[in-house]
Amino acid sequence: MDKILIRGNGQLNGTIPISGAKNAALPLMIASMLTSDPVTLENMPRLADVEALQSILSNHGVDYRVKGKRPGDTSMTGRRIEFQASEIVDTTAPYDLVRKMRASFWVIGPLLARCGVARVSLPGGCAIGTRPIDLFIESLEALGVEIDIEAGYVNAKAPKGGLQGGHYTFPKVSVGATHVMLMAASLANGTTVIENAAREPECVDVANCLNAMGAKISGHGTSTITIEGVTSLHGATHEVLPDRIETGTFAACVAMAGGDVLLKNAQGALLQNALDVLELTGTGVDQVNDGIRIHRTSGDIQPIDFSTDPFPGFPTDLQAQYMALVTRAKGVSHVTETIFENRFMHVQELARLGANIAIDGQTATVTGVERLSGAQVMATDLRASMSLIIAGLVADGETEVSRVYHLDRGFELLEDKLSAVGADIERVTGG
Ligand code: UD1
Repeated sequence: MDKILIRGNGQLNGTIPISGAKNAALPLMIASMLTSDPVTLENMPRLADVEALQSILSNHGVDYRVKGKRPGDTSMTGRRIEFQASEIVDTTAPYDLVRKMRASFWVIGPLLARCGVARVSLPGGCAIGTRPIDLFIESLEALGVEIDIEAGYVNAKAPKGGLQGGHYTFPKVSVGATHVMLMAASLANGTTVIENAAREPECVDVANCLNAMGAKISGHGTSTITIEGVTSLHGATHEVLPDRIETGTFAACVAMAGGDVLLKNAQGALLQNALDVLELTGTGVDQVNDGIRIHRTSGDIQPIDFSTDPFPGFPTDLQAQYMALVTRAKGVSHVTETIFENRFMHVQELARLGANIAIDGQTATVTGVERLSGAQVMATDLRASMSLIIAGLVADGETEVSRVYHLDRGFELLEDKLSAVGADIERVTGG
């Protein structure tokens, strides 16, 4: 299995291009199942999760075609991929496929909307908590869907005549269930209103794409979304929005190592809260024409207190990376995780590098240390893996990160992007 070796190597300087967002690309691919026309997604990141979902969708009858490069495209330009679900050939999403990626559970929305039935395995995904599906079930029931769970599968059936518009108030914000409702209700009879909907930019991106496909969605980006059902959707071309988690991650890399880096194509509004928190560490954040400039050339990293929250709060997907940053702060930081109950698995690995972190329930107290030292560590989940790279950027000696398949799920061309700004990072394949 591949490993990443990283040696603490001083400041980072230059430009890192930000890729299209994984967390938007995946639901957008699934949304393509709602029409028999081709849907072209631009700015698609090259990620293991994208490839895995392509093969999962093929099982349902979705063909895809990577379109040719255009003048000016570089090896880091996002790809253009056309998806076409001329016919849905299978309404079952089997365990073997769904367990590899939780997002593939979301096919339940388009399958119900287009075929009236779906049989979808209960999901797996990153081991960061129990991650139940009650909100998916309740919200789909509000559209008239009958659901039973049997032998590890969710069997769902739309009413005769198709999904019915309905009203549902989420007791808790759910990004995944909001995606599913957007997709399902777009083809329902009548109007659906969802309240306490997720406001995450990726949900907005999905709604924008659906509208380009002929859906009638309004209020996306606020807590109340109204979806007027239409009888059919058509093809569209849609550009995936920049990855705010990748943006925040590289910003944390620069804050940790010091230096001056332009995060090209990044959009500050997608992660304002995280950028505000970063500034409190003593890091410069400047929104410029073509992205965000992150700089810290002198001075200590200041301690911070932050808590994860649904958008527009601090993203849970950046918690581990910012925690890594403050392991070197001049003082004590407090990091509270409110979205998932088991998302501190990186703590024991950071401790192997010399970090001083104590966990009490949902809060980690991080006492900054003068130095970290390289060690062998293990990636535990997608975002947590990046916390080890961030620590490795400043650790004395060599840090060896194993199980890097977690990173490949969500960070495009990671070693290339970091070495281009001066990091000493390499991948060792095989073994
Ligand atoms: C969540 C994050 C998202 C992140 C992703 C991967 C939030 C609100 N969501 O999205 O930002 O990119 O993980 O790390 O920050 N829940 C239930 N019942 C359900 C569905 C969810 O109780 O049926 C709970 C979850 O266990 C969790 C919370 O609701 O505690 C948010 O879950 P949800 O947003 O659905 O998860 P993801 O879509 O995976």
